[in-house]
Amino acid sequence: MGPYGDPRTPRPVVRPEPPSSAPHLLAVGGGKGGVGKTLVTANLAAALAQAGRRVVAIDTDLEGANLHTVLGVPAPRVSLADFVAKRESDLRRLIVDTPIPGLRLIAGTNGHLGTPQPRSFRRVALLSELRKLPADHVLVDLGAGTHPSVMDYFLVGDDGILVMTPEPTSVENAYSFLRAAFYRRLRLAMTNESARKLVHQAMDQGNQRGIRTPLDLLREVRAIAPEEGDRFATAVQSFRPRIVVNAARTAEDVRLGFAVRSVCKKYFGIDADYVGYVNHDEAVTQAIRQRRPVVVTHPSSDAAVYLVRIARKLLDAARRARGGRPAPRSQAASTSSWARRPIA
Ligand SMILES: Nc1ncnc2c1ncn2[C@@H]1O[C@H](COP(=O)(O)OP(=O)(O)O)[C@@H](O)[C@H]1O
Ligand SMILES: [Mg+2]
Repeated sequence: MGPYGDPRTPRPVVRPEPPSSAPHLLAVGGGKGGVGKTLVTANLAAALAQAGRRVVAIDTDLEGANLHTVLGVPAPRVSLADFVAKRESDLRRLIVDTPIPGLRLIAGTNGHLGTPQPRSFRRVALLSELRKLPADHVLVDLGAGTHPSVMDYFLVGDDGILVMTPEPTSVENAYSFLRAAFYRRLRLAMTNESARKLVHQAMDQGNQRGIRTPLDLLREVRAIAPEEGDRFATAVQSFRPRIVVNAARTAEDVRLGFAVRSVCKKYFGIDADYVGYVNHDEAVTQAIRQRRPVVVTHPSSDAAVYLVRIARKLLDAARRARGGRPAPRSQAASTSSWARRPIA
């Protein structure tokens, strides 16, 4: 008989956490530097904390760590650099408080300049530690570029947000980021070494084997390892990057998110989700000077209103995912529609 089967054992007033109490993991990337990844991370984290959620934000941009600054923690005692350098193996001991109730931080650095990205073994340890953090949501701020470590943080999350600004350079980097994430995800899903090599070859657009579309790739994968076919399709269908257009100034800027979503569908067969845009807003600059998220300092500014709206959408999506309800049919791309498109 369990402890609560005995009438003498008092029942807890608050129901114990369900076994799946691991935090919801949300990674914020974007390929390019300066597009607003840290802004989005800090403000979504603050908005979720303001909604009563327990949040830990973590800065994995070890070379350009500045999440602590925008959250008002000027000199963190400890940081992720301690984990990378193996001075600390328990991520929980690297958490510091921020001035925002409910929001805590693992800073990227506490004075060590240019800490290199963790090597792959350390990265695997880090990724599993993230799931043990005492929080409802863990928000991961990513560095620029498409380094495998950045990709791994992006792909390990329950949700991955891609931040871009309406500038050709940002859009270009966002596409290379998505492309790198798409193929890395496929490669990681393959258990057969030859199938993995094939995915690697397909990443080269001018590859000698003539693989031009995801369908070509799937056909070749099936030919050498038939059992990998289903894993391939599942990996594609379950990849659902969320797009945020930041620093929007015009209606056309706002439409960029829809255009990116169409390109994702057309070329990769993936269903990206345009979760919203954030205006270019002077309040953002002022908030950064005050070292606080704009949702805290200027809650009625355009930027804050849109950031809170995005946070709410993500929260709803996370709740639906946790509730275990099946995704609507439209989210499941059929092989025929996605796989014939050329690889971008
Ligand atoms: N919506 C916005 N409105 C005004 N300025 C912004 C906005 N988003 C970003 N910025 C400016 O861009 C800078 C870089 O943003 P940041 O979040 O640090 O980029 P990243 O983390 O992608 O390198 C900020 O310090 C801020 O000055
Ligand atoms: Mg940043």
